[in-house]
Amino acid sequence: MESLVFFGKGGIGKSTIASNLSALYGISGKKVLHVGCDPKHDSSVSLCPEGYVRTFMEQLLEDGTPRLAEGRPLTLRGRFGVDIVEAGGPEPGVGCAGRGISLMLETFQARKLLENGRYEVVVFDILGDVVCGGFATPIRRGFGKKVFIVVSEELMSLYAANNIAKAVRSYRDGGVVLAGLVANVRDPEADPRPIARFAARIGTKVVASIPRDPAVREAEYRRRSVVEHAPRSPAARALARLSALALRIDPRRIPVPAPLEDRAFYELSLRQFRGGRAAK
Ligand SMILES: Nc1ncnc2c1ncn2[C@@H]1O[C@H](COP(=O)(O)OP(=O)(O)O)[C@@H](O)[C@H]1O
Ligand SMILES: [Mg+2]
Repeated sequence: MESLVFFGKGGIGKSTIASNLSALYGISGKKVLHVGCDPKHDSSVSLCPEGYVRTFMEQLLEDGTPRLAEGRPLTLRGRFGVDIVEAGGPEPGVGCAGRGISLMLETFQARKLLENGRYEVVVFDILGDVVCGGFATPIRRGFGKKVFIVVSEELMSLYAANNIAKAVRSYRDGGVVLAGLVANVRDPEADPRPIARFAARIGTKVVASIPRDPAVREAEYRRRSVVEHAPRSPAARALARLSALALRIDPRRIPVPAPLEDRAFYELSLRQFRGGRAAK
């Protein structure tokens, strides 16, 4: 079973990319599980038949139990035959969203959701401004194997990527790898080279670039994937290439990432990750 994990700073394009990949795998006939792990619970909107998914946490809060009641379904059959689940979050300002993800993954195990060849591809969409223990659970427990970090030309997205690379390094023994960065730049005029230099610094690569494309926005208003709404658009084509590449990457051939210490990140970023070594 392939398990792909998308991390990245808020608003960077994780859900767009993850949900389009799930749609593409579903369209190609694969058995797919799409797991939204952002309390925003909007990861699977474009895959959802009714436009709104009752989240895992919503169901727990309704029942007032820490376990999903027996009769409660864990997943919902979405478009293209993709099964979807959204972790959701606690009441804003109380509780811990990361804990919700842990409880959801415990339920995956209790119900043997990822066993017996039920799915060929599992796609996790996880927020990554902070990688607190809860949000790292999918990679810590070995559910997610190939991590992709979505970045843009904006420095803070690279800062988040550096932190996520630290989490990947910590859990490498569970078999998780940093498969690469996905560039989703906001400004088509932006120089992409600092992203590539940053990638090289931390021992990874930019494996795909998704162009800024109005078709993505049009699709979003219709609650559709861009690969469905405008399959010939530049973004849809780039997403199709990424969907094929993501399955081809061999995790055994990927080195452990070498994220930068915060001080080195700061210094190197001042010169857009060019040139010699940073002070340790
Ligand atoms: N390549 C792109 N072209 C145009 N709009 C995009 C692109 N990628 C993302 N967006 C838009 O940016 C916004 C944030 O994307 P989203 O996938 O929700 O981010 P995240 O899940 O990382 O918070 C959405 O409105 C989305 O439609
Ligand atoms: Mg999102």
